[in-house]
Amino acid sequence: MKLLLLGSGGREHALAWKLAQSEKCRKLFIAPGNAGTSEVGENVALKADDFEGIRQFVLDHSVDMVVVGPEDPLVKGIYDYFRNDAELKDIPVIGPSKAGAVLEGSKDFAKGFMQRHNIPTARYQTFDGNHVQEGLAFLETLQPPYVLKADGLCAGKGVLIVPTLDEAKRELKEMLGGMFGQASARVVIEEFLSGIECSVFVLTDGKDYKILPEAKDYKRIGEGDTGLNTGGMGSVSPVTFATKEWMQKVEDRIIRPTVEGLAEEGIDYKGFIFFGLINVGGEPKVIEYNCRMGDPETETVMLRLKSDLVELLEGVATQTLASRTIEFDPRSAVCVMLVSGGYPEKYEKGKPISLPQTPAQGKESIVFHAGTALKDGQLVTNGGRVLAVSSYGANKDEALSRSMAGAEQITFEGKYYRRDIGQDL
Ligand code: AMP
Ligand code: GLY
Repeated sequence: MKLLLLGSGGREHALAWKLAQSEKCRKLFIAPGNAGTSEVGENVALKADDFEGIRQFVLDHSVDMVVVGPEDPLVKGIYDYFRNDAELKDIPVIGPSKAGAVLEGSKDFAKGFMQRHNIPTARYQTFDGNHVQEGLAFLETLQPPYVLKADGLCAGKGVLIVPTLDEAKRELKEMLGGMFGQASARVVIEEFLSGIECSVFVLTDGKDYKILPEAKDYKRIGEGDTGLNTGGMGSVSPVTFATKEWMQKVEDRIIRPTVEGLAEEGIDYKGFIFFGLINVGGEPKVIEYNCRMGDPETETVMLRLKSDLVELLEGVATQTLASRTIEFDPRSAVCVMLVSGGYPEKYEKGKPISLPQTPAQGKESIVFHAGTALKDGQLVTNGGRVLAVSSYGANKDEALSRSMAGAEQITFEGKYYRRDIGQDL
């Protein structure tokens, strides 16, 4: 098969790495990819949301399947674009239809969906600019801290958690007044849930589903989960509190009702579902849905997926997922993200990277590229998150120490990483 993977981050390098291992993968293209993806496939200079360009490329190169990494092309409707095109309609796109991507694209839709299907989540209400007074009154019924969420996509910045009622009221007015533009024209206010988070991933063909290894990501820049939020500083899989019993609750109360709910509502969904969960006193609740894999969770989840990913994706495309098997690697995996100095605030790009080849690399440790580029043959930094060092271990401590050893050997000006990934569990 000839595959085209869309995206350019660490998640995409990890997906590309896994796809390329399949015997069924004859050729792998990545658009636009990064310096790392070019080691496992062929990068194509097309943006992930350039539908016209992708169309032409797929036809010119007889691509058999398109796998979508990031949410943006899905929310913009790439699945529907293929289905509605006479020449593309039989080429599977792994990822939901535009209607399905709304699970991520609209917090209000996601909350309503959970309510309709009895899926455990925080109590909430949604308000628009015509109902500011009602919103302020709803805030008064809640306990601090207050959770305010812009309804639409805002590159991970649309959720505010504020400690006092006064601040919450002020933020609500600002959000509805256009703080995040159209994305905060509606605001979801919800009850604060206290617990540890866990990301659970599912592949669905619209009828059946397979649960992938779970993972936990580390969003804050500082050790001990302090400081500003980032795109993710590392991840670990498995997650100790996600026991068999807990995962059974997740499947019965959250995963199955979600997949069945999508089908009941006539929503075409063939792709990944990312359940952002929180463990509240032993009970899983949904914080958010995403219509794609997580980043940097994918950088550990792919290490722990033993089965052939192309085979699973074929099952998704042909709605034969039920007959496929999924196997996990029993080892632990830990990903440590190396970021540019100053990230997540101002940082510089273009710093030369020295990436020594070590004996562990490729076996116990894999370095996935997140924000890198090749400039005149030299590998340079090209983003806030630069490299994801992912390692196997008999347990999470061994996996962490391997990733840390890898992280130390890599050098670029301003390199920073957290040394405590997985240590809170
Ligand atoms: P979201 O974009 O919905 O994932 O929210 C971003 C982050 O805010 C989540 O990963 C949680 O850490 C936190 N968060 C969101 N909603 C809640 C909630 N109801 N209670 C506690 N924390 C939350
Ligand atoms: N790691 C969280 C995300 O991908 O949204």
